[in-house]
Amino acid sequence: MGKKVLVTGGLGFIGAETTLALVREGYDPVIVDSLVNSKIRNLGALESLSGKKIPFYQGDVRDETLMDKVFSQHSFEAVLHFAALKAVGESVTKPVLYYQNNLGCTLSVLRAMERHGVRRILFSSSATVYGDSEDLPFREDSPVREATNPYGETKVMNERMLRDYLVPHPETEVVCLRYFNPVGADPSGLLGEDPNGIPNNLFPIINQVALGIREGITVYGDDYGTEDGTCVRDYLHVVDLAEGHVAALSHSKGPGFHVYNLGTGHGTSVLEAIRAYEKATGRKIPYAIGGRRPGDIAVSYADPARAERELHWKARLTIEDAARDAYAFATKVLKEGD
Ligand code: NAD
Ligand code: WQD
Repeated sequence: MGKKVLVTGGLGFIGAETTLALVREGYDPVIVDSLVNSKIRNLGALESLSGKKIPFYQGDVRDETLMDKVFSQHSFEAVLHFAALKAVGESVTKPVLYYQNNLGCTLSVLRAMERHGVRRILFSSSATVYGDSEDLPFREDSPVREATNPYGETKVMNERMLRDYLVPHPETEVVCLRYFNPVGADPSGLLGEDPNGIPNNLFPIINQVALGIREGITVYGDDYGTEDGTCVRDYLHVVDLAEGHVAALSHSKGPGFHVYNLGTGHGTSVLEAIRAYEKATGRKIPYAIGGRRPGDIAVSYADPARAERELHWKARLTIEDAARDAYAFATKVLKEGD
């Protein structure tokens, strides 16, 4: 039997791809997800891709009775904690919901770990904790800044909570993985990004254009101080990101607080991302230049050297790979609807 791990939010975009990578590496993942932003069909896709039955509990991570049941029925080596709400714009209009959910989930996980003696947690953090800075690339020791929106602030606060938890629990290993911009889909085209409601992120929007759901995309500003004037991001294939979690799990650094950037180290502008998508899929993506989106920063990309050195992990897929896989998912799964 492999090592058992709990995956909260394991039917979401990144959690599902990571669950698949975990099974393939010989771990036994158990999922808790409320389906607030994912679909049950992801469980079927996961089981057919992995060839394994994956224990799944549908419920809210903040439900401590449920967490007690799950922790009593399984003996976990670690928790991979993905469950959170992640729509930046929505977090501005519903700050209470975001703080309640994103802080509440982590507190509930920590309380269950405390009660059941589990001593390792990998937390889904974000490059958003670096805020708006021109000191690039972002390194793990770059300053953490106040976020421009409640969603981002929940990541800053979660990292702080996890750090404080270590004081009375010095035997625990906390790993904060700061993701840059996760994109793409499983190469099978069966698992990918399918947020409920109107998407906010670039790739899901481009996918909708490719499917004919939208006529075109608005590029948010071409007057930034970048080469082509559009914002630059570090787009990371979700398969690489999933492997980053497995690497962090299998290269334990022992008790304490550990932070790793998971990114490629390369910046891509919005226009370059659109061109890469067109090249990889053969679809034309019409666009128009619009105004800046409030809260956007000009440039963000990682220095991923620490993850390479300490976790022996490095992103290997390109943005074209991500575009091809995201398009396959869009045509196979999204087009069919629910
Ligand atoms: P996602 O919305 O696809 O997945 C999150 C999953 O958590 C969903 O399946 C949702 O149903 C579940 N969930 C949310 N609240 C829950 C609750 N209270 N109880 C049980 N389940 C709950 O998002 P994702 O893109 O896979 O993101 C996973 C994690 O990575 C999140 O913590 C997110 O903040 C973080 N992150 C994402 C990105 C990104 O751009 N996608 C970047 C950096 C960090
Ligand atoms: C990427 C680029 C937009 C849509 C967000 C969160 C961050 C992290 C990842 C979780 C930007 C541009 C987008 C469109 C556009 N999430 N764009 N037209 O903003 O870098 O990061 O997701 O932690 O916290 O803030 O990602 O995909 O929204 O945008 O021009 O219709 O695409 O301006 O430059 P972002 P994104």
